[in-house]
Amino acid sequence: MFYVPTRIFFADNALERAAGRITALGSKALIVSGRNSAYISGAMEDIQQHLLKNDITWKVFDRVTENPTIDIVMEGVTELVLNECDFVIGVGGGSPIDAAKAISLVAANKTDRSDIYRSEGYKKALPIVAIPLSSGSGTEVTPYSVLTDSQHNKKAGLGSELAFPQIAVLEPKYTLSLSPAVTLNTGIDALSHLLEGIYSNKRNPVMFPIIYNGVKTIFQNLPKVLQDPRDLQARQEMMRASLYGGLVIAHASTTLQHSIGYPLTSVYGVPHGLANGIVMRSVMELYYPGVSKELDDLFASLSISREQFYEWLEALKLSIDIRISDHFIDEKLPEVLTSRNMANNPFEISEDDIRKIYYDLKGKA
Ligand SMILES: [Fe+2]
Repeated sequence: MFYVPTRIFFADNALERAAGRITALGSKALIVSGRNSAYISGAMEDIQQHLLKNDITWKVFDRVTENPTIDIVMEGVTELVLNECDFVIGVGGGSPIDAAKAISLVAANKTDRSDIYRSEGYKKALPIVAIPLSSGSGTEVTPYSVLTDSQHNKKAGLGSELAFPQIAVLEPKYTLSLSPAVTLNTGIDALSHLLEGIYSNKRNPVMFPIIYNGVKTIFQNLPKVLQDPRDLQARQEMMRASLYGGLVIAHASTTLQHSIGYPLTSVYGVPHGLANGIVMRSVMELYYPGVSKELDDLFASLSISREQFYEWLEALKLSIDIRISDHFIDEKLPEVLTSRNMANNPFEISEDDIRKIYYDLKGKA
């Protein structure tokens, strides 16, 4: 099964081409963004110009931070209701788009904050437009929204087909202003999503050409954009690979690769993609016996060995300077074991498997 109900406009004046369809979604938009990249990239100005030209009004809600919290989502819902907006435009990295999705669902269903993760409670949504400004999350084509519950120090996702954006606009030029750290971390997030299409027990042969092409694209282009951030062609390739990663997890979901990183983000503030990256080798080694054929085929398609892939990963110098405590491991193990993504592992993963990965990390940190 392959299902993505999102109209995808990719590169070549994507926003211009999508503008007619975006402005047909309603009469007043809530533009959901963070404080910086929407403005620095020029996206905010471009969007407003298109809305203005088509007599659509808007309200800007630009308070979304990295790892959006339930509190921020509820604030956005209040803004939407007060301003009588009838559709949402999420513009930014994964965080503002995930927040925009949740704002749409919560506002349309008048959901209580305590029920926000209860995906089956959503029966309708306001139209959602997603304009990613980084190449990583792939959220522009997924039914997921990952939110942080700051009261319980927990990061978790909700998933509903209603959260698929109607329209995704991918303009590689908006990623030219990304910092090297954000470029690296988000690129690794996209790589995680592609690999998880292989790991997941929902893996689907229809996705394999997309996965192999996406991994190869990142393998070739991530070092290029890190070396020359203004390389528009390489930026475009990274954005395409990130889109592929989103299409993959929309079907295969994520796995331990993501579950194990979430507590590193919610407790220690490790950026999401970096949290995936620092456990990527350990997770691949753990999963290898279950998906050796698929991984061997992947590396054959790259004309490299698994060892050479690890060397490539090593050369990116992903590192964290935090001290992981035993208390953290004991406290967070149950959260990892019970997270939604754990249902998708290629085989049963034990508490000891997870403990070992955290211990390895402790040794490196
Ligand atoms: Fe991710």
